[in-house]
Amino acid sequence: MKKKILVTGGLGFIGSHTVVCLHEAGFEPIIIDNLSNSQMSAMDGIKSLIGFEPTFVNANVNDKEVLAQLIIDHKPEAIIHFAAFKAVGESVEKPLMYYENNVVGLISVLEVMKEQVISNLVFSSSCTVYGEPDQVPVLETTPTKPAQSPYGATKQMGEIILKDNAAWCKTQCLRYFNPIGAHPTAALGELPLGIPNNLIPFLTQTVAGLRNELTVFGNDYDTPDGTCIRDYIHVMDLAEAHVKAVERLVHNKQEENFEVFNIGTGNGFSVLEVIQSFEKENNINVPHKIGPRRAGDVVKVWADTTKVNEVLGWTAKRGLDEMMRDSWNWQLKLQNN
Ligand code: WQD
Repeated sequence: MKKKILVTGGLGFIGSHTVVCLHEAGFEPIIIDNLSNSQMSAMDGIKSLIGFEPTFVNANVNDKEVLAQLIIDHKPEAIIHFAAFKAVGESVEKPLMYYENNVVGLISVLEVMKEQVISNLVFSSSCTVYGEPDQVPVLETTPTKPAQSPYGATKQMGEIILKDNAAWCKTQCLRYFNPIGAHPTAALGELPLGIPNNLIPFLTQTVAGLRNELTVFGNDYDTPDGTCIRDYIHVMDLAEAHVKAVERLVHNKQEENFEVFNIGTGNGFSVLEVIQSFEKENNINVPHKIGPRRAGDVVKVWADTTKVNEVLGWTAKRGLDEMMRDSWNWQLKLQNN
């Protein structure tokens, strides 16, 4: 009998890739998703890769009755909680929507877990909790800074809530850096709604002719080429990290009930370096111009991955060029559908 893993937000960008990797690792993924930031086409992609549609319930995690019934029916060994909004700019415009969805949503999941005696959770956190770090690369022990957006605040609150519930809830808290790329078959990828906030979908849509020009938000920062530096991580590497975290929980390998890991590559690349990588890898020009800085942008942040390499036994395998290739293949697939 396969161990079942409940994946909230399992049709989303990271969730859908993780569902495929869970299956390939011998688990049975169960999906709950309210399609507020995902599409049923992701289920088609999952089916094309694993040969069937996993159990799926179209519901909000705040619907505790539905969530409880799903847990009663399937008795999952662990829950991976992806379901949350993640657009920094949008969170500034709609803070209550972000607190209700990201914080109340987590509390709903925890209340049902406690009631149903499920004690294993993988939580989607973010490098956003570090704010503008005083030094890079950041360690898991690097002090967090006051959040610069309601989105960042919801991630910091989520970590506090989980630490305060560590007596009964064993958590693998994964701090993502910048997830990009797509499944190498282009069966799955990012499906941003409306005008993308993030660099890569805006870049690929520009090259595809859907956007006029990519604006580089500032080139007067204290970095080698003046543009901001990030730790971009392939979504497949990120998905594989979730499998490792689930295995650590279900095999009772955790040393503490709340464990936090930086899920990055350990390499920082600037916006201009990303553009150059994309152009070289895909032999195509990226129409771009330098524009003003974007409010709230962190200048440079990338991960120290010593702990996740040694403790979780996971290391990112895919480089920036591969991320650029898979991102473009996905955009081409979207164009052709
Ligand atoms: C990256 C760089 C921009 C768009 C995001 C999420 C955050 C977290 C990490 C999940 C910055 C520059 C961007 C554009 C640009 N994800 N840029 N022109 O802000 O690092 O954070 O990923 O937890 O929630 O918001 O990512 O892709 O928006 O920006 O120059 O049109 O690209 O200034 O330097 P960010 P991003």
